Amino acid sequence: MVVNRAVTFISHSTPASLVQKELDLDTCYREDEIVVQVYAASLNPIDLLVHSFACWPFIGSYEKTYSRDYSGVIVKRGDKVDPKWKVGDKVNGLYNHLYGYHGSLTDYLVLNPKQQPAITHMPKPADSKYNDFVVNAAWPLVFGTAYTALFNYGQKLGPDSKILIIGASTSVSYAMLQIAKHEIGVKTVVGVCSSKSIDYNKRLGYDYLATYDQGPIVESVGKILVGDLNNEKFDLIFDSVGNSEFFPVMDKFLKPKKDNSYYISIAGDRKMDYSNPRLRDVFSTMARILRPFKSYNYAYFFLKPQSDYMDLGSKMITEGTYEPIIDSVYALKDFQAAIDKQKSNRAKGKLVIKVKDDL
Ligand SMILES: NC(=O)c1ccc[n+]([C@@H]2O[C@H](COP(=O)([O-])OP(=O)(O)OC[C@H]3O[C@@H](n4cnc5c(N)ncnc54)[C@H](OP(=O)(O)O)[C@@H]3O)[C@@H](O)[C@H]2O)c1
Repeated sequence: MVVNRAVTFISHSTPASLVQKELDLDTCYREDEIVVQVYAASLNPIDLLVHSFACWPFIGSYEKTYSRDYSGVIVKRGDKVDPKWKVGDKVNGLYNHLYGYHGSLTDYLVLNPKQQPAITHMPKPADSKYNDFVVNAAWPLVFGTAYTALFNYGQKLGPDSKILIIGASTSVSYAMLQIAKHEIGVKTVVGVCSSKSIDYNKRLGYDYLATYDQGPIVESVGKILVGDLNNEKFDLIFDSVGNSEFFPVMDKFLKPKKDNSYYISIAGDRKMDYSNPRLRDVFSTMARILRPFKSYNYAYFFLKPQSDYMDLGSKMITEGTYEPIIDSVYALKDFQAAIDKQKSNRAKGKLVIKVKDDL
């Protein structure tokens, strides 16, 4: 028997809290499951959203565990688990769930690797000031999201493609920038960020930067288009914030639909306030998704658990062409400080929680 701690909530009106229960490590898993002792986990905005939208009684009165990203060590495996997953292996991944009893902000995570395929043997970061478990808990969800936007919509992006990223400072966008630059060789990536984040994002490798807080974004991006890009339009506009400014003037910024250009959003038409998210922010996006006969290719998606992005992420971490930026690292007892930082929407990188006390 071990003590299993977990950060859980019951509904939107109950705070996140650290609970502990006894767990029998010999009987808590099925023959097709493994038990991962979680060393580190990271937060994502989705963790806050599902908590905020958890309306009792629709979601039940059981304790729901926080978070999705994890790194740790396999401590138990069922007899029918693929032999590539062995006791003692270091692994990291994305545990996909909605109001799950299990989540990654816990000491022991029980999962079926076939049903949760976003799992990999932990890569060794090429050069990092952080512990390997901390680094590897920080990337599956954001990297997978960037990968999906770049590769899952049939676009043939190459060195001459032009990408506009609304929300240059977000962790998803940083992963997209690194994949675009190092794996596809894209020469022109334009980012939109706050005026105070311009220098930060220049250092990260954006070719041009526009601002969202010094007048309309379309004007700021328009100046770059005319002044620096010879008025050549974008192949991909990626929104990782929640914005609708480009829709009325899309033909001025995005190449024609016949060129397989895309506007891809992972955050919808309106920017959410994570400290007080509202369902109305979701409705405007639903209207856009459902609207027929759009003059541009539009996609909005929720990340699915897949192994392909874990493979590429591992390769890039090992090669040193990608390492997630980490804003801050917290002890498990300080989980609320991490949640508050995520709510602020001002984090520059990932918020990682060390679940194993002596990590
Ligand atoms: N659909 C999916 O499957 C999926 C998956 C992952 C994430 N997401 C969504 O994608 C978004 C990004 O997630 P993340 O974890 O990468 O975020 P994050 O790293 O927490 O983003 C924080 C950054 O957002 C920037 N920001 C804040 N307000 C902005 C604005 N109005 N315009 C442009 N940038 C702004 C801030 O930098 P500045 O200094 O530049 O303001 C801040 O550093 C979230 O909305 C999340 O819910 C969706």
